[in-house]
Amino acid sequence: MEKSLEQKLEEFQQKIDAEIRIEPTDWMPDEYRKTLIRQISQHAHSEIVGMLPEGNWITRAPNLRRKAVLLAKVQDEAGHGLYLYSAAETLGADREETIDDLHSGKAKYSSIFNYPTLTWADIGAVGWLVDGAAIMNQVPLCRCSYGPYARAMVRVCKEESFHQRQGFEIMMRLAQGTPEQKAMAQDALNRWWWPALMMFGPTDKDSKHSAQSMNWKIKRISNDDLRQQFVDITVPQAEMIGLSVPDKDLVWNEETQHYSYGEINWDEFMNVVAGNGPCNKERVTARRKAKEEGMWVREAAAAFAEKRKSAKKAS
Ligand code: 3HC
Repeated sequence: MEKSLEQKLEEFQQKIDAEIRIEPTDWMPDEYRKTLIRQISQHAHSEIVGMLPEGNWITRAPNLRRKAVLLAKVQDEAGHGLYLYSAAETLGADREETIDDLHSGKAKYSSIFNYPTLTWADIGAVGWLVDGAAIMNQVPLCRCSYGPYARAMVRVCKEESFHQRQGFEIMMRLAQGTPEQKAMAQDALNRWWWPALMMFGPTDKDSKHSAQSMNWKIKRISNDDLRQQFVDITVPQAEMIGLSVPDKDLVWNEETQHYSYGEINWDEFMNVVAGNGPCNKERVTARRKAKEEGMWVREAAAAFAEKRKSAKKAS
């Protein structure tokens, strides 16, 4: 006898509570599927758009080693994006539609990628802070209740740690360099610190998805708790290389064993998320252009596949 919706929902929640992974062919509530497609597709878009600020410096890396490392990182991000688009497809998302949503401006991607990379030190700050924040948020996702997403995150996180280390090394070298190089590193930290804190999303009280996402064990740790972990780990790293975090209210609290920090500019956050950040238009245009200019590759590959298929049929 067909189970009622209530019975299916109850059994689904029991699986979640028992830490049983949900796989593509399992029954799942429409809302669970929808919120995962939302989050995974935005995550994938973030990886792909995230290639742009760093790609901007591949031809201008200061030496061959830095160029090779940056090339490897940007290639990794492309792979992360494809991994995540594939994870979204296991939920029924159509790849072309998903990508068109990015190009039409309908889909979100992480606010952080709408800021410009003005100097080489920004490449260090992006690796150190942006990938550092991404690791903070992606490690718990390795325990996400949805199997394909969790498994994709295991590999992504391994590569992210290399991304974060190479970024921190760039900042360390600059901070130990000439006064001009140290000033360039400090300027990059000043410009990337607060947007990196915004990566974790709105505060817990303003987050519209957190409660349900945590109930379904998609989100394991809240936005504010992850943000706090990031601040607690990153401030000592800045101090170790002689840079100062641009927050006059930052203070270590012996009692709580955490840093308390200043107020985030949520108007700036909402503005960037709404599409009015310094580089939003440039980023979406670049992705649209990449698709248009790459169309011949897809057409040639499709024609070749078609030819091979008909040759196989004929033989
Ligand atoms: N930029 C843009 N939009 C953001 C955002 C940000 N930094 N933070 C939150 N939002 C959006 C959410 O998407 C949601 O909007 P929607 O309903 O239209 O999707 C709204 O703000 C409310 O936020 P919530 O906190 O309620 O939403 P979530 O529960 O989805 O939490 C999140 C937000 C923590 C970003 C979560 O979606 C998440 O963990 N996503 C997966 C990881 C991810 O995308 N990381 C960011 C970048 S990846 C990266 O940096 C790659 C590295 O290699 C460089």
